[in-house]
Amino acid sequence: MKKTPKMKFSRKDLLDIESLSSDEIRLILDTAKPFKDLFTRSVKKVPPLKGKTVLLLFYEPSTRTRTSFEIAAKRLSADVANFAVSTSSVVKGESILDTIATLQSMNVDFIVVRHSVSGVPNLIARQTSASVINAGDGFHAHPTQALLDASTLDEIFDDLRAKKILIVGDILHSRVARSTSRCLHYLGMKTAVFGAGTLIPSSVPPHLTVFDQFDEAMRWKPDVIYLLRLQLERQKANFFPSMREYHSVFGITRERFRQISDEGIYIMHPGPVNRGVELIDEVMDYDRCLINRQVENGIAVRMSVLYLLHLAVDEKTPAVAQAS
Ligand code: CP
Repeated sequence: MKKTPKMKFSRKDLLDIESLSSDEIRLILDTAKPFKDLFTRSVKKVPPLKGKTVLLLFYEPSTRTRTSFEIAAKRLSADVANFAVSTSSVVKGESILDTIATLQSMNVDFIVVRHSVSGVPNLIARQTSASVINAGDGFHAHPTQALLDASTLDEIFDDLRAKKILIVGDILHSRVARSTSRCLHYLGMKTAVFGAGTLIPSSVPPHLTVFDQFDEAMRWKPDVIYLLRLQLERQKANFFPSMREYHSVFGITRERFRQISDEGIYIMHPGPVNRGVELIDEVMDYDRCLINRQVENGIAVRMSVLYLLHLAVDEKTPAVAQAS
């Protein structure tokens, strides 16, 4: 049963999933729905963030997250500034904290940050009065990915409780696995992981069941299989002999795809997809492949997060300070 919580969002920042309650997650998902309805209109823009500035501070590459935050902010009528690390004074040795102090002087209202080091968004949040949104930090967290995944499954299933999701691949290096499994667990889904023993953390949270055989994982009867990319940029060692071997043991091969489609199992992936490694091409055209829908929902969920953080911060700001 989906229940809209009667509650207010009262946070300055969104840094991880762990600190959210299931009611706050539900509020973000419910707030995203009317924003998604805008997407089919000829005018997709609404005014709540008029006069506000959103800074996109990406120290790591991104296609989906950066672009969808930019579109989300613009659809809420905010101004958007893109901080290009490679052409900034970071390359002349300016530290993160000095960079933040400089940007803080420009009075931005939101900082959306991605960094390869876990904890950098938390550090920035403590240094600035702007609302900080974690757009992915190291192995740690990717909260808006988790929320858009939850929003996508919430559209598919009438009731998430007791539905099962199997997360497959490089769990060890994945901030997505951490955030998405936690978020779906909070919403009542059963969560499991399957991957190479070398790519599963030695200790996993109690809500995660671990499988090391595909057939065993399939007997668990997942409703959704969530594939992860091998995060080679974060791997410090060789975790398996070759990509070909990885695909045959842990990827969605032709034979496995036949079983998955026969059983009507949904497929998800946060992107970017490596075709021929975690999946064969045909999976991308499967009618239960939700990858494009995840991207679409990313904009609505990010609009929801920006909007709710804005309401929370504006409510705490005295009227005189707002007017001056
Ligand atoms: N899912 C995700 O974070 O994709 P990008 O790296 O393209 O932002």
